[in-house]
Amino acid sequence: MYNEINLDSIDLTTAPPEKEPSRQYYFMAKCREWIKEFKKKNNRCPTAYVQTFGCQMNARDSEKILGIFKCIGYEEADSEEADLVLFNTCTVRENANLKLYGRIGQLKKYKKKNPNMIIILCGCMMQEKQAVDKIRRSYQNVDIIFGTHNIFKLAQLLAMKLLDESGNNKMIIDIWEKSTEIVEELPTERKYSFKSGVNIMFGCNNFCSYCIVPYVRGRERSRKPEDIINEIENLVADGVVEVMLLGQNVNSYGKNLDNPISFTELLRRVENIEGLKRIRFMTSHPKDLSDELIEFMGQSEKLCHHLHLPLQSGSSRLLEIMNRHYTKESYLKLVDKIKKAVPDIAITTDIITGFPGETEDDFKETLDVIEKAEYDSAFTFIYSKRTGTPAASMQNQISDEVIKERFERLLKVVQDTSAKKAAQSVGKITDVLVEEKNAQEEGFVTGRTGQNYLVHFKGDKSLIGKIVPVKLCESRGFYYYGERC
Ligand code: 5AD
Ligand code: SF4
Repeated sequence: MYNEINLDSIDLTTAPPEKEPSRQYYFMAKCREWIKEFKKKNNRCPTAYVQTFGCQMNARDSEKILGIFKCIGYEEADSEEADLVLFNTCTVRENANLKLYGRIGQLKKYKKKNPNMIIILCGCMMQEKQAVDKIRRSYQNVDIIFGTHNIFKLAQLLAMKLLDESGNNKMIIDIWEKSTEIVEELPTERKYSFKSGVNIMFGCNNFCSYCIVPYVRGRERSRKPEDIINEIENLVADGVVEVMLLGQNVNSYGKNLDNPISFTELLRRVENIEGLKRIRFMTSHPKDLSDELIEFMGQSEKLCHHLHLPLQSGSSRLLEIMNRHYTKESYLKLVDKIKKAVPDIAITTDIITGFPGETEDDFKETLDVIEKAEYDSAFTFIYSKRTGTPAASMQNQISDEVIKERFERLLKVVQDTSAKKAAQSVGKITDVLVEEKNAQEEGFVTGRTGQNYLVHFKGDKSLIGKIVPVKLCESRGFYYYGERC
């Protein structure tokens, strides 16, 4: 398998190959030579610390990044006091950017102790010119910056840094405006041995008026179905029982392929993979959720009964200004249809309050949808002004005071609705995929139901990675206490 490629067999006396991923393996081998020297000099492996901010897509990217570091010979560190620190950044909301500046500042003290420490920044925030300009000016301790379109080039950029003998310590910045190709078959290092995210597409074409993602992640690009199936088959052979298919809008998967296929067709092919037990996907845009998919959700043996269906706002007036292409009424009809096809479906959502021009009436429409849709849980966000998006230049921004008051009411309604919904399943027996030992309670493990609820129950680490039936005995909001049956 590609994770087992032998770097030592690569001939480094020749020029690097032109084609990917061979080109990157060549640079990994170069970095590995450097690491061999490091080990001889220091009598230890160099350490690398990767911190992920933001969404599941970033989490998956970080697994690829860590895969490259491990393949080269870095040992994973569990704190920032490491020989290499990489921050994989998020920029969906402004405060994510502010936090990151603080974190880079904090690294100064470690770099003072270990002047050869390498600091790398990547991810969505690095696609923003103002952010990179600020880092270039104010954070000269940073060594390498790259963006969302060229993660696959990490080994090449690192080799430039490690093998640079000029002594001028220049910051390496390599940011692309768009993606040219999807590079397959680079190493990955999974966080869990039994479950994995799998990218099926990258980017977004929707341009919701508040959102910066299409600007920093580029246009939609789908991976070929055969590459996805091949990856999942390899994962299953390696012990994975659950996959989460990832994309900003999985419902529009496959439209831009040379041989277009629908997301449901892809799911059918994934369902046929022997040994795979559970399939999840994220995120679904309500405007693109097809009847074909709803029907398949009702029939599938492996699709988990959980759907993340971002609402953003319950006001049809605001939804139009947000460029969401659905109304309150059509959204609620969709929810009804899904519940009819899959009666025990858990529906979760994303909600923004404080979008420019949001009136009390608009806000009440949102609360109304929460109660009618009976969400199992909701991520609630305060609107954040993102420079470059259409909403940022709208005149009628809402005051902090009003937003804060609405946000508190929003949270209360979400919590009450979720608590009611969770209580309905107490007493039921359901399959749980055990994920880890419970950190708080000795003798307990924690797993997830198909509906994506956490369950704590008595058990030991031999259960990790197994799917076992558990009775849900007590609901505690976000999680249940259960008993193994
Ligand atoms: N302000 C607040 N929340 C936002 N989101 C996206 N952009 C913004 C913004 N500018 C939220 C949306 C999206 C989730 C990933 O982040 O709810 O679904
Ligand atoms: Fe952002 Fe809308 Fe694309 Fe989601 S669908 S990533 S909210 S632009």
